[in-house]
Amino acid sequence: MNKIQYKNTHLNSTRLIYGCMRIAGDNTPADKAKGKLALRAALEAGYNHFDHADIYGGGHCESLFGELLTELKQETPDIREQLIITSKAGIRFEPQRYDFSTDYLTTSVENSLKRLNIDYLDMFLLHRPDYLFNAEDVAQTFQQLKASGKVKYFGVSNFSPSQVSLLQSALAEPLLVNQIEINIHNIDSLTNGSLDQCQQLGITPIAWCPLGGVAYPAWGNTFSTADEQRIEIELARQAELYNCLPWQLILAWLLKHPANICPIIGSTTPERIIAAKQALAIEYNHADWYRLLEARNGYAQP
Ligand SMILES: NC(=O)c1ccc[n+]([C@@H]2O[C@H](COP(=O)([O-])OP(=O)(O)OC[C@H]3O[C@@H](n4cnc5c(N)ncnc54)[C@H](OP(=O)(O)O)[C@@H]3O)[C@@H](O)[C@H]2O)c1
Repeated sequence: MNKIQYKNTHLNSTRLIYGCMRIAGDNTPADKAKGKLALRAALEAGYNHFDHADIYGGGHCESLFGELLTELKQETPDIREQLIITSKAGIRFEPQRYDFSTDYLTTSVENSLKRLNIDYLDMFLLHRPDYLFNAEDVAQTFQQLKASGKVKYFGVSNFSPSQVSLLQSALAEPLLVNQIEINIHNIDSLTNGSLDQCQQLGITPIAWCPLGGVAYPAWGNTFSTADEQRIEIELARQAELYNCLPWQLILAWLLKHPANICPIIGSTTPERIIAAKQALAIEYNHADWYRLLEARNGYAQP
């Protein structure tokens, strides 16, 4: 699979990342077996980068991944070194809030490592911006996590461009990624400066819920039936033209952007996990990219 090297690092990530948020399902034996099959399908399809968070499935998603990794080590002893394993922290519950305190972040990383059954995270991301964060304090926490060998590199998620700038100004090392919602419904990053900043600073944008608004409702979906119909008609036209499935075009639409967006594939269906790769081979035309945007908006660009 096509790969992308994160800025000034040895991390060579596949362009499609596998998202582990849904792999444990309801944590029943049947759901866990399904999740393991999905992970195996992703590995066999060549995905080398796996996205986690401390809160996914209340920790069960990381534990399931750790279980599978232990099994896979029997067949491939150096499997861990072949993978990029990312996790996130920063969201807490009761009350729901964001928390970048040193104690909380450090404990969260240590618990993720235990559940994943690994010694280090390749990347650790701050999940959602804590409005009360102090950049110098976070920089110190990152330094401690790096010095302890528990985390190799750092990034953020759901950060605005100014929040990225603020944090980056206190850090000795570059933030590698900003993981944000990007899909045909949520196109904020095209105009709010996020994708521009990524290109300028060499930060890789990672798109969560990449099929939101088409295969799956986007978070905070505001599409009307008429919006959905226009998009469906344009996708059907393009699917015939490009000889692919409509949802693969949705991924190609993201991949076309010059910021080198890396979509996270969150499906637990092996066929979809494999078929997503075909999006990488679509040579998406500039005019068709705008036709889909026009169908989404319901009006032509001014
Ligand atoms: N940083 C953040 O704040 C944040 C937030 C949310 C997610 N994430 C990350 O992003 C990853 C992906 O997010 P996601 O799982 O919401 O997005 P997704 O990949 O768009 O998948 C969402 C849902 O769509 C379904 N689906 C996928 N392909 C489909 C298709 N072709 N036709 C019909 N349904 C389809 C999947 O069902 P099936 O499983 O049945 O295929 C899945 O339930 C997560 O695993 C997580 O790692 C990060």
